[in-house]
Amino acid sequence: MEFSKIIHTRYSCRNFKDSMLKEQDLEFILEAGRLAPSSLGLEPWIFYVVQDSKKKQEIANIANHQSHVEHCGAIIIIVSRLDFGEYFESKLRERNLKEEELQKRLKLYKPFIDGMHEERKLSYAREQAHLALMNMANAATSCNLASCIVGGFDNRALDKYLGLSSKEKSAVMLVVGESKDSTIPEKIRNSKTEVIRFQ
Ligand SMILES: Cc1cc2nc3c(=O)[nH]c(=O)nc-3n(C[C@H](O)[C@H](O)[C@H](O)COP(=O)(O)O)c2cc1C
Repeated sequence: MEFSKIIHTRYSCRNFKDSMLKEQDLEFILEAGRLAPSSLGLEPWIFYVVQDSKKKQEIANIANHQSHVEHCGAIIIIVSRLDFGEYFESKLRERNLKEEELQKRLKLYKPFIDGMHEERKLSYAREQAHLALMNMANAATSCNLASCIVGGFDNRALDKYLGLSSKEKSAVMLVVGESKDSTIPEKIRNSKTEVIRFQ
């Protein structure tokens, strides 16, 4: 599917069939998330995939009883990792940089990472989560699937439900499935003159 069509036809669907996603579609969507860019290449995320009906219902309860969270093909929960300070160096070493370049980057970025307090770490990791999120939403559209980004949920309750460690926090969800809608709602957006300023 052309990218122009993807951005014009992606919309937040709230009316899904319960049918499961095809395995290759789910794989493609997750791969789009995995390949998303991230600051310093930290990839501070884990994608939890939920397809079981009972679990979808339980998660919908945590998400303010939003019925499209219960009735969809799959829920993909992006969990933010806060332990990136611990793996930054080893991840950097995977790039096979010259030792001198590696040391330069460590010197430059390690203090930035180590200087973050827990709240800043979370907001930094959550920013990255939204890049993976959008890649996945567009990937779903390209597979002719509908999706809805869901941020309206009780984070603490979801973290507990997933059994996350203190270094992992749920950031946002993407619910995906086949749409029951016969038409796509018109896009309501601010005008170009409101949102774009050429300087
Ligand atoms: C961070 C974020 C959180 C959102 N949370 C919810 C949500 O909890 N439930 C929901 O139905 N839609 C949610 N949405 C969808 C927005 O309402 C929707 O993207 C917006 O109204 C624009 O409509 P469109 O996606 O159809 O173009 C969320 C979107 C974003 C980006």
